[in-house]
Amino acid sequence: MDRIFIIGGSKLTGEVEISGSKNAVLPIMAGTLIQEGVYTIRNIPILMDVLTMAEVLKNLGAKINFEGNSVTIDTRGQVGYEAPYELVKKMRASYYVLGPLVSRLKRARVSLPGGCVLGPRPVDLHIRGLKSLSVNIDIVNGYIEASCEKIIGNTIYLEGEKGPSVGATINTIFAATRCEGETIINGAAIEPEVVDVVNFLKKMGAKIEGEGTKVIKIKGVKELNPTDYEVIPDRIEAGTFLAAAMATGGELTLKNVIPEHLHTVLDKLKESGAKIYIDKNSIRINGENGLKPIDIIVGPYPEFPTDLQPQFTSMLLKADGLSMVKETIFENRFMHIPELIRMGADIKINDDTAIIKGGNSIKGAPVMASDIRCGAALIIAGLIANGETSISRVYHIDRGYENIDKKLEKLGAKIWRVRE
Ligand code: EPZ
Repeated sequence: MDRIFIIGGSKLTGEVEISGSKNAVLPIMAGTLIQEGVYTIRNIPILMDVLTMAEVLKNLGAKINFEGNSVTIDTRGQVGYEAPYELVKKMRASYYVLGPLVSRLKRARVSLPGGCVLGPRPVDLHIRGLKSLSVNIDIVNGYIEASCEKIIGNTIYLEGEKGPSVGATINTIFAATRCEGETIINGAAIEPEVVDVVNFLKKMGAKIEGEGTKVIKIKGVKELNPTDYEVIPDRIEAGTFLAAAMATGGELTLKNVIPEHLHTVLDKLKESGAKIYIDKNSIRINGENGLKPIDIIVGPYPEFPTDLQPQFTSMLLKADGLSMVKETIFENRFMHIPELIRMGADIKINDDTAIIKGGNSIKGAPVMASDIRCGAALIIAGLIANGETSISRVYHIDRGYENIDKKLEKLGAKIWRVRE
């Protein structure tokens, strides 16, 4: 298992190319199962979760060929209808094959994902979406077994207690693309990744309206056409570099970004003292004036993303005074905090809220990543700590970030990886 070592204290400066979006490419890859054919997906990040999705698709009979940052997926001979426990337990997003398999084969058997380090992550809304399209669902031996004669369009309310669900919205759209009649999803998630999946399906000929709003209308079509598609840039990777630049008091230019996807994040950075310059596909951030404490409340898009909460918590350790971070989406997304406290951070957790007393220096320490964004938060902490930090369980970081250590090294960080 690899470790990442960092000696803190360097300012990040220069230009960084942001990779394609992990959370858009995973459902798009699964979406190629809907219609047999050959697809090329471009601007994909080469990371562990993408390779796991490739395994899931291969296991179903698809042929996969990676070339640089593109992947060709041939689903012409696909025969299987099962995503086994061994693959789903590696990556929850494997459940994205559920909607496409039901759409194409009227049948799917997908392992339930089970527990997650972020807390309980139910799939009731995925089931609600499919059931309302007349798909029968049984839970048998830890698997969701879905089958139907026909997918029949319906009007669905899909929001749960914690708000709309990205995954359930996408799975329901997948299943509805070839429904009989029309499907209306009320309470849909409006994240840019949902819009990207819809744009991919529309390029295949799907009849969908309202993406990016809470009401999505899908008119079922008989056939779709395989297509080439370029995935949007990763707004969470971009936000991670912005937080790292700000924390180190550096100056960075991010290339290959869609600034509009980050406006709440950019507003928070400005509030904390960043100078931000926006161009069409790039963002420049200057953090030389230091950081002011701020309050962040996480929420579904367009609110502040939960996937950037840990990284911003680390960044706020440099802000002199009290900051507050409230997590509202996942019950257990403060796993980075005990590790930050081991580095000398002054943070108190009160239920879903962390109070960060910033401005004191933190010291390097051996720490452990327990999920993707926790790992990214520990990297930022390592960049601002005195002395050496070593991060273990780096495979969590590799699930979601393409060459993060190499990208940071190019920007001036003292960071290296030891392969073990
Ligand atoms: C997606 O997960 C992302 N994953 C997550 O990114 C991200 O944190 C999350 O959306 C929220 O933005 C992928 O895109 C692969 P949800 P997803 O369904 O779709 C509850 C990262 O670090 N809920 O929108 O699984 C759920 O428990 C990851 O890149 C139900 O109650 O998230 C949560 O509280 C981690 N029932 C809320 O909804 C359901 O059936 C939002 O979850 C489904 C979800």
